[in-house]
Amino acid sequence: MKRIDCIVGARPNFVKIAPIMRALRGREDFAVRLIHTGQHYDVAMNAVFFEELGIPDPDVNLEIGSGTHTEQTARIMLALVPVLASPRPDMLIVVGDVNSTLAATLVASKMLIPVAHVEAGLRSNDRAMPEEVNRLVTDRLCALLLTTERSACDNLLREGARPEQIGFVGNVMIDTLHACLARAAPARLTFEEIGAGAMASRAQQGGYGFVTLHRPSNVDDEAQLRGLIETLFDIARDIPLLFAVHPRTKAKIEATGLGSLFEDGLLLATPPLSYLRSLGLMREARLVVTDSGGMQEETTALGVPCLTVRDNTERPITIEEGTNTLVGSSPSALREAVANVLANGGKRGRVPELWDGKAAERIADHVEAFLAFRQPSGA
Ligand code: UD1
Repeated sequence: MKRIDCIVGARPNFVKIAPIMRALRGREDFAVRLIHTGQHYDVAMNAVFFEELGIPDPDVNLEIGSGTHTEQTARIMLALVPVLASPRPDMLIVVGDVNSTLAATLVASKMLIPVAHVEAGLRSNDRAMPEEVNRLVTDRLCALLLTTERSACDNLLREGARPEQIGFVGNVMIDTLHACLARAAPARLTFEEIGAGAMASRAQQGGYGFVTLHRPSNVDDEAQLRGLIETLFDIARDIPLLFAVHPRTKAKIEATGLGSLFEDGLLLATPPLSYLRSLGLMREARLVVTDSGGMQEETTALGVPCLTVRDNTERPITIEEGTNTLVGSSPSALREAVANVLANGGKRGRVPELWDGKAAERIADHVEAFLAFRQPSGA
């Protein structure tokens, strides 16, 4: 029996870990624990995802909560040491690029526990982005590097990873999307539930756009945030927009007095939405405006045009093959890009290689092979 520990901490991790837990727990030879760092703790950012995605309750919750990046990383590291010491796992699995991913990788590496990274090798080449720092350090330390697209394998090889460490497995986020699409909430129901009846009837005629923004580069600077929100209001005159507001963005909107802009009801703001509501809204949208990594991939899988409000992306396949367009961070470029989609329908794209709903099984195969190879005689 091989012991495997899986780490989750923040919302995008939950979407990735659901199929991985299912695949690993489906194998007889694995004893699998789920460890939650507690980086995200609000019901809307956490519990709702566990429930909708059928993720088993965590075996351990470190409850580290919010703080600066250093505080979060340090608290996770301190709390994780005794958990990994006994019972000691044969392998740790981390996903994505959040602070929990980095902290757990550092601790396990120091304890000589091999780590597998799911979503390895993605690079924005922008070190001002906290996730890029997390990705670089995590991949440097991991024994097994499991990738979503071929460009990620190239990045890893260029940085010195050995070919036998790398497995191109496809995208677990799309496993979750496939598993949930039939249960996704119809957009009309979500509009009704959030009291947006008027918007729903406008949307029925000409469609609607779905918006999320939370990256520090877009929301931490008041002038940038103001420019984007004013532009969204301008766009909402042409097409109704529903804006699911992340806690980080909400705090900034409140701190800078931008909240009063929402009072005319053109641009509708809601708290963070559950996975099934968000998936339903994405599927039916005419366009999505976002700075999320996951939504760039989900819109590509759904064939919905996505306008990414960033200067770079670590997921280039969504641009090359999918429906994603990088519009940069300037509000006027966003305005223009939306006008283009409304005029010509936006990019169509195709679904990338191995985004087929079976990535988690391939991950389990790689983990099994790694552990069999590493400890052939229980050494
Ligand atoms: C984190 C990830 C980011 C991911 C995002 C998804 C890192 C470096 N960043 O950013 O990659 O895209 O999650 O949401 O790990 N907060 C709540 N309730 C919660 C969680 C957070 O109110 O359940 C508040 C915190 O108090 C904080 C803000 O939201 O003020 C940001 O949370 P934090 O986890 O620090 O980073 P995110 O911006 O969410």
